[in-house]
Formats: sequence, structure tokens, C-alpha cells
Amino acid sequence: KTLRVAVIPGDGIGQEVMPEGIACLKAAAKRYDIDIQLDEKFQDWATCDRYVKEGSMLPENWKETLQQYDSIYFGAVGDPARVPDHISLWGSLIQFRREFDQYISLRPCRLMPGIKCPLADKKVGDIDFWVVRENTEGEYSSIGGKMFPGTDREFVVQDTIMTRHGVDRVLKYAFDLAQKRPRKKLTSATKSNGISISMPYWDERVKEMHQQYPDVEVDKYHIDILTAFFVLRPEAFDVVVGSNLFGDILSDLGPACTGSIGVAPSGNINPEGRFPSLFEPVHGSAPDIAGKGIANPIGAIWAGQMMLMHYGYKEAADKMMEAIEVALEKGGPNVITPDLGGKGDCAGLGGHIAKLIETL
Ligand code: NAI
Ligand code: MG
Repeated sequence: KTLRVAVIPGDGIGQEVMPEGIACLKAAAKRYDIDIQLDEKFQDWATCDRYVKEGSMLPENWKETLQQYDSIYFGAVGDPARVPDHISLWGSLIQFRREFDQYISLRPCRLMPGIKCPLADKKVGDIDFWVVRENTEGEYSSIGGKMFPGTDREFVVQDTIMTRHGVDRVLKYAFDLAQKRPRKKLTSATKSNGISISMPYWDERVKEMHQQYPDVEVDKYHIDILTAFFVLRPEAFDVVVGSNLFGDILSDLGPACTGSIGVAPSGNINPEGRFPSLFEPVHGSAPDIAGKGIANPIGAIWAGQMMLMHYGYKEAADKMMEAIEVALEKGGPNVITPDLGGKGDCAGLGGHIAKLIETL
């Protein structure tokens, strides 16, 4: 079966890193005989250029069009000098996440060779876990409002929504992921000591779901001490699952504990495949370096690797991962990009990794 992928590079360095990601995916597809179709006709979708010219980030029929693909391979969006970020982001990426029910946000937190870890005394292998974030409900509901504005009775209220369906489906994904890993360990982020209704409910659902996964070891921490443990002893984690807000915090903190923003990838996943899932680098459009050709393409390449893994092409995905690691470890200063202390450029590092995928 053909894996149909819509490529949307977007703004800024999205346009620079995505061709490298595509080259690497093509190299992997060729070597492992994967039937993948990378559709590159979406050059001006989700761009601020388009917004300035046409008043919208996407054409009106975007949903029907993208619905025909298995996956979206996304670069970055945003050009804050011309278009406010809430317009560019809400007009594109956030629409995809919502309309395509991408209820899992998945990020690896992995210390890679050749990257200086901001935490002291960590070596490769010490940090290797996943953060699974609930991506559709929880604390980020739009139910609530402001009452009596400007008076001394003024107040605001914003509700947290946790549905059994919504909580259970993210927990199931996290348990499944933990079960596939050697350590089979799941950590749940909670705050049931302070948030006395929704968080005890979250804990209750974790306990219930655990019964279906007796071989998975489960622990839970309150979010405050959990963030401290991310920094103090990241070795302890394997799969970490959190509500929308807690997962948001953890999925920025986790990758930050492992070094460069330029290498981290992210998946926005609709596991049932009813809608396309989206894979993207964690970083944004980086206006400060856009156009210079020095962006690190590894975040985009690794996002492509996650995509292959998600659709079951494990061998090819493993080879891509190996190529990224070898490039980081042995590529040398002429290949490595300036964000990691080298003198290389985006196309050079991307080409180097594509070659490794073909030859390693
Ligand atoms: P950013 O991730 O674009 O940049 C932060 C810093 O990291 C900058 O100094 C940048 O040069 C550096 N950096 C980022 N990616 C890099 C790479 N691949 N190689 C080397 N250096 C890299 O975040 P920032 O500056 O907060 O946002 C810029 C724009 O991107 C805004 O419009 C923002 O809304 C948007 N954005 C979009 C995201 C997305 O599309 N998923 C995510 C984050 C921000
Ligand atoms: Mg965030």
C-alpha cells in the first residue's frame, strides 16, 4: 500500500529543512523498497506569504484535500514581523490538530551523541524516554468566561474537561507504547493533592487502564516534583503521560534537558488513522537564521523517521536513526551546523545523513 504524504514546509527555515527531510525519506524508501508518495504541491500552504496575499493561511478546501493523505509532513509556521503568531498558528497547525483529531502529541526525549547535555554528568543512553501529551481536551477548554468586567465583582473562570473517552484513549496509547519498550514503565503526571476533582479522576483512569497491562510498571508523581525529577534524574523515565497542560510543560522540558532545539521532533497523532497524523520538528520558523542556510535539519529528518516508525516501517526508521546518530557523532565540524558548534550548513548535514542512510 502506498504511504501518501502531504509535505507542507511552511515558513522560514521550514522551507530549508524540509528538502533535507525529504531527501532522507527518499533514501530510506529506496533502500527498503517502501512505497511512499511525497506530494510537494503544498509549497505555499500554511505560509505567511499566502496570508499577506490572500488573507488566509490555507485554501478553503484544505480539509477535504489533506484528508486524502495518510500523513502530513510539516515544517514550521510563523513570520511574526508580518503576521501575528496567533493568526498564523491558529490558521494552520492548530486547525490540523483539532480538525484531524490528533489527540496524541508524542515527543522523544533522548540524549544524542555529539550534543552537550545541559544537565551535568549525563552520557548517551542515560536519557531516553517519551512524553505522551493529551492534545484535545483537559485544561485547554474554551468553556468559561469573564464576569462583571471592570467592577470589584470581576472574575474569570475556565473549566477543565476530562471525558472518559478522552482520558482513556491517551492512556491506552501510552500503555501500548510502554508495553513495546524494554523497560515497560509508565509514569503518570498528576496533581491530585491540589486539583481535587479532575486529577483524582485522571489517577482513577490510570489505575483502571493498568489492569489491562499487568506487565507494565506504573508510577505517578505530582507535576511539581515531576518537573524537578526530569532535571535531577531523567534516567528514571521510560514513557511519561500527562494531561494537555502537564504534557505541554513536560514535552518542552524533556527535549530541553537533552540539548539542541534543532534536533527534536514531534508527532501529532490520530492513532486510528481516521485522519492524517502530522509529523514536524519541534522548532519554529527561526526568523533570526532563516535564509542563511545554516538551520539544523535533524529535527525535520527525525520527524520523518518518526513518521516511518508510526506507519510500521521499523527497519527503515531504525536505519534513519542510526544515520542521525552517526552524523552527530562522527560528522565533524565541517558537517555539523553552527547551533551545535560546527561550521557546516543545512544542505551539507542533510546530504551527509541521506548518504549514510544509503550506505551504512
Ligand atoms: P524557534 O524555534 O523558531 O527559534 C528559537 C531559537 O532556536 C532561535 O534562536 C532559532 O534560531 C533557534 N533554532 C530553531 N530551530 C533551529 C534549527 N533547526 N537549527 C538551528 N537553530 C534553530 O522559536 P521562536 O523564535 O520562539 O519562534 C519563531 C516563529 O516560529 C514564531 O512565529 C513562532 O510562532 C513560530 N513557531 C512555530 C512552531 C511550529 O510551527 N510548530 C513552533 C514554535 C514556534
Ligand atoms: Mg509548548
